[in-house]
Amino acid sequence: LDGNNITLWKYRSLIPVKTDPVTLFEGGTPLYSLKTGKSSRVYIKHEGLNPSGSFKDRGMTVGITKALELKKRSVMCASTGNTSASMAMYAARASLKAYVILPSGKVALGKLTQAMMHGARVIAIKGNFDAALKIVRKLTERNEIYLLNSINPFRLEGQKTIAYEIVDQLGYVPDAVFVPIGNAGNISAIYKGFRELKEAGYTDNIPEMVGVQAEGADPVYKAFVQNKDEIEPVSNPETIATAIRIGNPVNAKKALQAIYDSGGRVLRVTDSEIVEAQKFLAKQGVGVEPASASSLAGFLKEELDYDTVVCIATGNLLKDPEEIIRVCEKPMEVSANPEIIEKLL
Ligand code: F0G
Repeated sequence: LDGNNITLWKYRSLIPVKTDPVTLFEGGTPLYSLKTGKSSRVYIKHEGLNPSGSFKDRGMTVGITKALELKKRSVMCASTGNTSASMAMYAARASLKAYVILPSGKVALGKLTQAMMHGARVIAIKGNFDAALKIVRKLTERNEIYLLNSINPFRLEGQKTIAYEIVDQLGYVPDAVFVPIGNAGNISAIYKGFRELKEAGYTDNIPEMVGVQAEGADPVYKAFVQNKDEIEPVSNPETIATAIRIGNPVNAKKALQAIYDSGGRVLRVTDSEIVEAQKFLAKQGVGVEPASASSLAGFLKEELDYDTVVCIATGNLLKDPEEIIRVCEKPMEVSANPEIIEKLL
């Protein structure tokens, strides 16, 4: 038996699986207060502290459990990195074969190496995430391989527990929840969690769901400002936040519905605003990867009147070391001489 850890499986009665979960103790992530100089109370939900370092673990513990229930032997995903890292880890735990299709040269090193070390077959394509997902949908239709992208509804059943935890941790429903949007699964899942709590009579209201996209990969933002419920895909998405470098998010329609239903909105941030927010968080002891910082970047950019705000930080700082080398001051190289070093202090 594993130890007596607190995980998202404390909400087991609300998660639609029958068998014992494949778990690496995901969920139960901290909610940190943050000083921003604004009048709102601001909290960061640090999903980067999940076992593989991102919120994807919440979806994978459920998705992989379902794969076993369905007697599947292999699983597959397209990924900008985190989904593949998480799927490889949980597939290894469940002794399932894992196949990963990635956009070549566009996946952060920490994520790629996780998928490799946990034993996935990693295939890098000359094409972006949207092309990879198209291939995965085709191959999983044709073969007995279980698809574990966020089109899979069981992924969202795991991720909705972010909402449950926020209410448990705060003791009330915040006014707004800021979520980075890539493939648009997570914001849809979190909204589902809040809606379920309200429908069960456990809470009285639903927070405004605020999606944040990067400027070069912003189809959901564009749909929102035009008041549409469907997106126009962006054909060559580009952003420093490679995790959300997606032009044709599969869950866009669901996400827009969540945003409109909750009275929320979609914001757009530049790469430099993302890096600034990443550094802002780091200075308060919260280490995140670029995509994760976009939620806070959205909040800092706008003058929005909320009492309590929760920003979701989706992935860990260690995921993308190359980006950090690019945006931070390099270490100084000097001889091993205490007098010289003392002068540098
Ligand atoms: N933040 C991080 C760190 C991510 O890895 C992702 C998605 C998102 C935000 C966006 O979440 O897709 O549910 O809207 N990463 C996927 C992947 C696409 O393949 O790892 P979403």
